[in-house]
This record gives sequence, C-alpha cells and structure tokens, in this order.
Amino acid sequence: MNGTSHDGALGRRFPPGFLWGASTSAYQIEGAVDEDGRGRSIWDTFSHTPGKVHGGDTGDIACDSYHRSEDDLGLLTELGVGAYRFSIAWPRVQPSGRGEVNQRGLDYYRSLVARLRDRGIAPVATVYHWELPQALEDQGGWVSRETAQRFAEYAQVLAQELGDQVAMWITLNEPLQAAHQGYRVGTHAPGKTDLAFAAAATHHLLLGHGLALEAMRSVLPADVPVGIALDLHPIRAAGDDAIEVAAVIDAEVNRIFLEPVLHGTYPETARSELLPSAELIEPGDMRAICAPVDFLGLNYYSPHYVRMGDWDDLRQSESALAGHPGVVSYLPPEIPRTVMGWLVEPDGLYDTLRALDLESPGLPIYVTENGCGCDDYVTPEGEVNDVERVDYLRGHLDAAWRAIQDGVNLSGYFHWSLMDNFEWARGYSRRFGLYFVDFGTQRRLPKRSAAVYSRVTRTNVLQLDDDSLVKLSLAQASSG
Ligand code: FCB
Repeated sequence: MNGTSHDGALGRRFPPGFLWGASTSAYQIEGAVDEDGRGRSIWDTFSHTPGKVHGGDTGDIACDSYHRSEDDLGLLTELGVGAYRFSIAWPRVQPSGRGEVNQRGLDYYRSLVARLRDRGIAPVATVYHWELPQALEDQGGWVSRETAQRFAEYAQVLAQELGDQVAMWITLNEPLQAAHQGYRVGTHAPGKTDLAFAAAATHHLLLGHGLALEAMRSVLPADVPVGIALDLHPIRAAGDDAIEVAAVIDAEVNRIFLEPVLHGTYPETARSELLPSAELIEPGDMRAICAPVDFLGLNYYSPHYVRMGDWDDLRQSESALAGHPGVVSYLPPEIPRTVMGWLVEPDGLYDTLRALDLESPGLPIYVTENGCGCDDYVTPEGEVNDVERVDYLRGHLDAAWRAIQDGVNLSGYFHWSLMDNFEWARGYSRRFGLYFVDFGTQRRLPKRSAAVYSRVTRTNVLQLDDDSLVKLSLAQASSG
C-alpha cells in the first residue's frame, strides 16, 4: 500500500516523504531580460515579433521575479511546499550559448538555490525550459546537431557550479512542444513550420538530453538525481473505428519521446515524416539517449479524444487532425474543459501513471506539472475564488493518490504554477497560478486554491468534502 491510506472516508493520506512542490520557468516569471549580462533568447525574438503572442505581450517584465525573488520565496514558504521547480535561463549563464560563463547570471541562481535551502525547500532545476540563446538559433537551433553538443556543455557547467546544491535536475522540459510548436507548427519560438526541421529538432533535443545526462553525471555527486520532464497526453479513441489511428497518434505525440528515453528506439508506428531520418542518427546516439534516468517527470494536463469525421463537414467540437485525413480531434461535450479549451479528466493522469509504471516498473515518477488555466479575477472583497482550479486540483490529487494505492512509485507532485505568469503564445491572457499576480503593481495574492493546496502540503492529506466527492465521481463517470 506504499504507506498511503484513507484518513476517514473523505481523506486521502499520501506516503510519508511525498514531495509537494510548485513549478515555474525563467522566461515566464523573471523579466529583467537586459540585466546582468543576459543574452537574447529565441523567446525574446519571438515575443517581439508582431502577431506571434496574444496582445503583443512579452516576457520583458513578466512577474519581475528576478528582482522579487525574496518575495516569491516567501510565497513558497507560505504554501508549505518542500520543493520548488524553477528553470535556469541559458542566456543568463552563457549569453551566446557557448564558451565563457557570465558570472552575474550564474550568481543569481546560486543565490536562489542557497536561499531555497535556507528555507528548507529543495531546489529542483530545469536546465532547458525553452530559452535557446538566439545566437545558437542563428546557426540552426535544434535543427543543427551542434546544438545538442552546446547544450551538454552548458548542462555540465551548471552541474559543476551548482551540482551539489540542487536536489534534483531536469534536463529538458517538454521536448515535444519545443520540436512541434517551435519547428513544425510555428506557434512557439523560433516559429518555424517545416516537418523536416521538426524531425531533426526531435532527435537533437533527445540527443541533447542524452549527452547532458552523461556530462552532468561526470561531475555530479552520485546521489543527485537527473531526469527529464515529458508532457504525455492519453489519446482516447471515440468509436472503435478510431482505435487504430489513435495508436498512431499516440506514437507521434507520446511515444516518439518516451520510447527513445526509456528504450532507445523510435516508435515505428509513427508516420515516417515525423521521425528523424536514418542519416540524422549517428552510432551511439540512441545508447546515449536511453541511458537510465533517475526519475521521470510527467507534465499532465489533459487527454486528447480522436474520432473519424468529415473534414469538409466538421461537427461542433471537432477540428481536423493535420496529417490524418478523415480523422478529427474532438471535445466530448460531457467532459468539462478549462478556458484553454483543455479537457479536465483526472483519470487521464491516473491512466498515464499506471501505463508508465507498467512500462518501467518501479521507476520513480514525479508529476512535474499539472494545473488549470482559469479566468481568475479579484472580487470587490479582495479575494480570488478559483473554484474551478480547486476542483481540478482535488480531482488530480485524488487520481495521483489512487495511482499510488495501485502500486505506482509516484514520489512527488509539482503544481503548475506558483503564480500567474507569461503563458507563452497566450501572453498574460491565461492564468495558471496558485497566486494571482496583478501585473500592473506586481502584487501577489493567494487564491483559494493556494489555501487548499497548503493544507495538503502541511498535512500530507487531501481532504475532500461531500461536494468535491460528488464532482469527482461525476468526472470519473463521464470519462470512464
Ligand atoms: C506547459 C509548459 C509550461 C506552462 C504550462 C501551462 O506546456 O511546460 O511552461 O506553460 O504548459
């Protein structure tokens, strides 16, 4: 039973030592893009290109966390979390992505890590959360094999300088989004739209992960764990006639990253134009990519439903699924969705955790991101009553708890996000925080979800009330 148990009918007790955390990333919160020698990243360029980000928003100021990190550490203490997942901005440490280290940039993170430890909060550092130095993009970015090498060198610098102070390292965040949105559909930096570029980026991101693992381990103390954070999306077939194509889409979305990392192979079922071509894969690449990780980070938000449909006569809640004529993605009306249009299905988290455990029995798993975009606002009484996020949080923590009950080695949960921030192409129009940020004044305000979460982090128990039980069983019924 892994030490979990019921705590009364409405309480779900997590195992002792379960790590509760909150997540952010550098470009989304730091601002201070021109300070202390920071170089430019692809997100500076992209967000300053008209038409790329909602409302012309940029990360120039964001949450101004670079100047307010002490306040933000205070929020973590208030939340009662045992860990903070943040990312290190490559262009702060190596402004042009190679060579000499910018000491002031490195010192910022050194101080952040030290102050986290002083507060008894474990620093969990992501090496790459999408901030490629622009100078490297100018030489081909992730389409070029060279970038994987540069990434490993940068990762080694971090491991050398901060290695023994950081509790856990994550090489890459969501390589799928970096390759797909960055190089295939162009909705993220660097905004390229080329299938061959995306296939090359896929391989070079994975290679970067593999080379970084090796380079970091050569200097890290043996007991410091290194892993990767993958976004996985259960693909649900709505209708028996879509089962086969759902498996292909699963290969193209999930297995294309999961399989190389866990087994050193690319999934043959994916369409060939999405897979890295043979000439990109040099001897030794796949071996480096599948060097065992110490843990797997799972970013889970929602499942995808697919069914057969008519592209020329789309029904409500259907959209054409590029590359798969006659197949549509579909939002079942009975499943709630967030303002991002993402389906809310806690069972998707449960199923993904179970599937991971089956595939890699016993591998420690952390949920490194999970959260809910809402239209939050401050009431005249000065409160943020984010009931949708509270329901989302309870539902997903309940799913995580059930997975542990059923034997999954889930060791921690990090909520996305600590505070509202720059939500990439959506700019500031989407809020994911446990803390509300007034971007005019930079005031932070705990939402109701922060109060609920801090009760969980402090007691190690998810306390449900009758009302939330009803909602959970409704959600499970509609997704089951
Ligand atoms: C994930 C990203 C994270 C955040 C959430 C909402 O894909 O890793 O930075 O934007 O989505």
